[in-house]
Amino acid sequence: MLVAGKNYQSIWVDGSDPSIVRVIDQQRLPFFFETRELRSVDDIYFAISDMTIRGAPLIGAAGAFGIYLATLEITPAVSPRLHLENASRYLISCRPTAVNLTHAVNYMMQGLKDVPAGSLSEVALKAAREICENEKENCRLIGKYGLPLLENLSKMKKGTPVNILTHCNAGWLACIDYGTVTAPVYLAHMAGIPLHVWVDETRPRNQGARLTAWELEQAGVPYTLIADNTGGHLMQHGMVDIVLVGCDRASVKGDVANKIGTYLKALAAKDNGIPFYAALPSTSIDINISDAFSEIPVEERDPEEVTSVSGITGGEMASVRICPEKTRAVNYGFDITPARLISGLITEKGIIKPEESEINRLFSQIK
Ligand code: MRU
Repeated sequence: MLVAGKNYQSIWVDGSDPSIVRVIDQQRLPFFFETRELRSVDDIYFAISDMTIRGAPLIGAAGAFGIYLATLEITPAVSPRLHLENASRYLISCRPTAVNLTHAVNYMMQGLKDVPAGSLSEVALKAAREICENEKENCRLIGKYGLPLLENLSKMKKGTPVNILTHCNAGWLACIDYGTVTAPVYLAHMAGIPLHVWVDETRPRNQGARLTAWELEQAGVPYTLIADNTGGHLMQHGMVDIVLVGCDRASVKGDVANKIGTYLKALAAKDNGIPFYAALPSTSIDINISDAFSEIPVEERDPEEVTSVSGITGGEMASVRICPEKTRAVNYGFDITPARLISGLITEKGIIKPEESEINRLFSQIK
């Protein structure tokens, strides 16, 4: 996507030094647009865990590049296999909910299984790049299949703006390029369909306020930032036509784990008869998980993200406490929206119902 007229992805390999992986620092947006150099497995691990980079497809791609960087760290003193296996376990452990990370790291390890030591880096770099290209293509296709939903709403509304509500950030920053939720939005906007996006701020880290708002602004898509608790009120007053959210891990039954608060939007949408879609590549589906509620690990993050809020003051980023000093807080990163509240899953193979038979059919097309 374009930032100040220059084309960016949210992760790439440095053009002049292939031992450096570059990313956009999402902790500094929207106040500062800065890139970071990642040179080691540790750098990747910490960039994912401190949320310099986040979003399911992106952390998958970053995990893949982590394995590539691990191949560069192999010395005569270590066993290549052991080193890569340790790196893969380490990388997979850094954020538990998004399955893309596990999928990408396992794909890399599988691809390197029979590769001689001297070719590991070359093969790993190619495979990590492939993962990025596949995720970009997945998002492009999600855009293609999601677009008719917005076209139809626009027709029903006789050209008055289609109001979309979204939660967290499932845009290009989270997905290498295009985004999942944003791909159909961009296509509709480019096709001249009048639309407007309600952006949930998404406490505690405010990915909506900081990242989705910034992305939409860059693309010239009209949006309004709302406090997380506003969506229900808007829905009761006919001010939301569709809810579009991302996904970190879907079960084979079509239940969707996404940023905390997604479930409440789905409940409100159901109560108000508003379509609720999750946009996700098949790499976010975990066909091994049948019972999302007991089997999807929900990340618990530092309570300080809840007891404080960060922003910009005097040209510098700062964090302020928003509650009494000794307040106890809990910080669940994700919740699970049951399939019964979801109108459909927008995937790279088309829109499917959130049902086991449809998900199995989707996977039979991929293999
Ligand atoms: O904690 P985050 O910011 O990584 O959570 C991200 C989300 O919940 C996104 O909606 C999800 O990763 C989908 S990105 C296409």
